Amino acid sequence: MKFANDLFLRAFTDERLPHPPVWLLRQAGRYLPEYRATRAKAGGFMDLCRSPSFCAEVLLQPLARYQLDAAIVFSDILTIPDAMGLGLSFGVGEGPRLARPLQSESAIDALRVPDVSTLQYVFDAVAECRRALTRDGVQSVPLIGFSGSPFTLACYMVEGAGSQNDFATTRRMMLQRPDLLERVLAANEQIVTDYLEQQARAGANVLMLFDSWGGVLAPLQYERFSLSSLRRIIAALKLRVPDVPIIVFSKGAGHSVAAIAAAGADAVHIDWQSDLSRARADAGESVTLQGNFDPLLLTTDAATIQRAVSETLASFDGKRRYIANLGHGITPDAQPELVAALVNAIRS
Ligand code: CP3
Repeated sequence: MKFANDLFLRAFTDERLPHPPVWLLRQAGRYLPEYRATRAKAGGFMDLCRSPSFCAEVLLQPLARYQLDAAIVFSDILTIPDAMGLGLSFGVGEGPRLARPLQSESAIDALRVPDVSTLQYVFDAVAECRRALTRDGVQSVPLIGFSGSPFTLACYMVEGAGSQNDFATTRRMMLQRPDLLERVLAANEQIVTDYLEQQARAGANVLMLFDSWGGVLAPLQYERFSLSSLRRIIAALKLRVPDVPIIVFSKGAGHSVAAIAAAGADAVHIDWQSDLSRARADAGESVTLQGNFDPLLLTTDAATIQRAVSETLASFDGKRRYIANLGHGITPDAQPELVAALVNAIRS
């Protein structure tokens, strides 16, 4: 594959780069008026995700506005619980809901690993996104495919929604009936592995695992209920699609950066509450770090953003094995012109 801009892929090697590549978690989304327009055309959020052409349309929206060095397939981590028949819906102005959460042993007995072909619409979206990035055989920037981690998916599957109390229902199950939670995790591990493999085969150049709620676990619980499954998924993918770099984001697990690197991740995404220099010391020199600007910066002003970027890149070597990004997803109240300010400050 030929790329017009392969800076992002070169950050997975030891090469010194002219400036850090940059892309942003949730770079396509509600902060952009053109995204809201496409979503309205599509009907609902899952209708958007089920339409490869709408996915490609919103994929390109942030790339048209900003000088970004990577694109991320437009989809969601909850496609897997949806494929498991748990009854996913997104209410207007609310987070996701599952109509049939896994809150009893009998519900977990009935859980089946779906055939990966039920997620074909996602692989079609990957292929369409890749086509949309490519002209005359040259791809503009690399394309990232992604999945939720087994643990983070289990949080939604057990809880049935997001959480104000650190997924207490899920953690209570973990404490009282770890065997039940482990059955959910085993089912998720199987489908997540196949799902990521198929995204790579459909055209994703890099894969990312979102363990957004790994940080609700204490370090020993994190190893047992989240990182152990990530380690096996990475090992399986290294056999099946060996040339595809893998990024792991366990938000709130700054205590385990060294362990995530040792689990085989090519890159570790660092959240905004952690420190990049400390993460570099923990991860060593042969792992790429990605992150970790505070998404709140995108609701401040250009001078504040410039100062934050200067301070970060003065204290940390950003030219080798580093990908600039946010420390969590863009929020709907981010100001589009401040996204430009952040991207431009990083590039210069
Ligand atoms: O450019 C991109 O990165 C978009 C692709 C993307 C979406 N979701 C689109 C989306 C990605 C990578 C995700 C991942 C995702 N989804 C995560 C992990 C990343 C993280 O932020 O921790 C999680 C936890 C989810 C689950 C999810 N999906 C929630 C909690 C919500 C509702 C809250 C919110 O932020 O909107 C969603 C919906 C969702 N996923 C939207 C988008 C653009 C908004 C839906 C809408 O248009 O109303």
